[in-house]
Amino acid sequence: MSMQTTLRSHTCGQLRATNVDEVVTLCGWVSSRRDHGQLIFIDLRDRYGLTQCVFDPETSPEAHKAAEQARGEWTLRVTGSIRHRPEGTVNPKMPTGEVEMLVTDLQVLSQSLTPPFEISSDTDAGEDIRLKYRYLDLRRPVMQRAITTRSKLVKAIRDFYDREGFIDVETPFLTKSTPEGARDYLVPSRVNVGQFFALPQSPQLFKQILMIAGYDRYYQIVRCMRDEDLRADRQPEFTQLDVEMGFVTAEDVISTTERMIAEVMEKVLGVEVSLPIPRMTYREAMDRYGHDAPDTRYEMFIEDLTDLAGRCDFRVFRQTAESGGQVRGINVKGGASLSRKDLDELTAFVAQFGAKGLAWVKVEAEALSGPIVKFFPAEQQQEIRHKFDAAAGDILLFVADKPSVVAKSLGQLRMTLARRLKMIPEGKFNFTWVVDFPMFEYDEESKRYVAIHHPFTAARDEDLDRLESDPLGVCAKAYDIVLNGVELGGGSIRIHRSDVQQRVFKLLGIDEAEARTKFGFLLDALSYGAPPHGGIALGMDRFVMLVLGLSSIRDTIAFPKTQKAQCLMTEAPGFVDEKQLAELHIRLSSEAQLVVQEQKENKPLKNVPQG
Ligand code: AMO
Ligand code: AMP
Repeated sequence: MSMQTTLRSHTCGQLRATNVDEVVTLCGWVSSRRDHGQLIFIDLRDRYGLTQCVFDPETSPEAHKAAEQARGEWTLRVTGSIRHRPEGTVNPKMPTGEVEMLVTDLQVLSQSLTPPFEISSDTDAGEDIRLKYRYLDLRRPVMQRAITTRSKLVKAIRDFYDREGFIDVETPFLTKSTPEGARDYLVPSRVNVGQFFALPQSPQLFKQILMIAGYDRYYQIVRCMRDEDLRADRQPEFTQLDVEMGFVTAEDVISTTERMIAEVMEKVLGVEVSLPIPRMTYREAMDRYGHDAPDTRYEMFIEDLTDLAGRCDFRVFRQTAESGGQVRGINVKGGASLSRKDLDELTAFVAQFGAKGLAWVKVEAEALSGPIVKFFPAEQQQEIRHKFDAAAGDILLFVADKPSVVAKSLGQLRMTLARRLKMIPEGKFNFTWVVDFPMFEYDEESKRYVAIHHPFTAARDEDLDRLESDPLGVCAKAYDIVLNGVELGGGSIRIHRSDVQQRVFKLLGIDEAEARTKFGFLLDALSYGAPPHGGIALGMDRFVMLVLGLSSIRDTIAFPKTQKAQCLMTEAPGFVDEKQLAELHIRLSSEAQLVVQEQKENKPLKNVPQG
């Protein structure tokens, strides 16, 4: 592929020994400049690589003079001949390391201020400064790799769906609320006084309506907007690979998705994913891993000890078992080296998830040891050893509590210990389907049922009769795809009958009037011949993050937002003037006006009062 343009003949990553004696022209940024007595060396960089450029005052005094002035991140255009590097100076780590350019002409295309941080893959610059000067940050090779891999992944995905007969349909951004469990971003309407659009949390309802319209294989790589508390794997606007299929069962969606995954992993990363991808029920994920997105790269399974606990003399365990709670634990292989201080820290760690303590037992060659061992007679100790497959040098950690606290505490403990004790093998891509999710959970705070996936998800046929009588016992036709312990995507078969959809709304506390106002168009559409349909959405940002082993999705997005949902480069969001607000029929509350005033005067930030 030629990268030639009017201004350059090659890229900075292109030249090899075969180019020796050619006269070439390169354009790029000064990555480094070294003065070696007479000679000056400049490494010129573009997104394809680095080329070493040599300036010799004997052969090209003018170019040498210009090179003396050049500084880091200036943009140069250089012309010269390619030669072998002298013996002993070949750099096998650089693709262009066998050659260098003897420059005869240097043109400064533009100068640069001194950058606020070093433009290298392993910069120690803080994230705020990187985000403020994102154009400099994006010059770093690691960032270029992430952005480039993302583009390749998108291309491979499009190729797959296109070949499989899917069509790409755009859905609106200015729309009505599409609930996915977060707050909506609202956009005021100027022409419709007092009314607001919501930005889509996903194209969920539109893709369902496309199925009703007969476009039975749809996909879109689409931005979604969710106003939620941000974490390393969440952004207020993020990208989904969104898919929907008509006349299908869950099997069809699952098998199509996994074929796509295997194909793009192979094409983009050369990684083989063997099919079918293993499946696990939600129950098993919670029981064994304490998490609905199990990391299957290492074991350390959660084991249940409730039965034995009910028979033992350790008061905390017995009382928990007798009062309907659970006693469970994990075996940390080689963990007997954990100190008292470590154990205190781990106890504080599980306390965050509601655990009232963390009991531990060390495993020795012949016996168990630790403060609670005395409460267990010899045969119970044998039972414990057996259950946990315990060997000398291990430590067993237990939590006794209600099931939700036990699962959360041990699940999180398992993950933190695996990281800390370096039990996670590198370079592994463990995909897992999690299936048989419950339809609903009960939210103690709002005292009502909420949908675990979303309100449009269908129940298993055999559970439909029990929708009202035993909502928590109803399983959904929902599935999540998990990669290395992170939820990569989720989907479901949808309700395709208006009457069933209304029953589910009712169960979720959405009365008829509210259902009409919010989802009338869906209920209407479902009344005109809706096919059975279902689909899935994968987080593109997470996909790139996981395949490149990055720790934040911000490193996969060219212009991401901070934890506080701000863009530090453009300084968005920003204040708008009174006139613009008046056109939108909006007036700030007096509290908000005070906050604005203070911020404009650069006083310390104050939060807008709630409510
Ligand atoms: P869900 O809400 O599970 O499903 O989203 C699908 C996937 O999108 C990614 N994701 C995010 N990525 C970054 N930042 C966020 N704030 C964020 N929120 C979600 C995750 C997640 O698995 N309409 C349904 C899909 C369907 O039923 O077809 C949906 O949106 O990787
Ligand atoms: P105590 O009898 O309260 O001194 O507790 C003895 C040990 O049991 C300590 O290591 C506690 O951390 C642990 N412990 C207390 N409550 C629980 C619990 N609910 N689950 C697990 N361990 C606990």
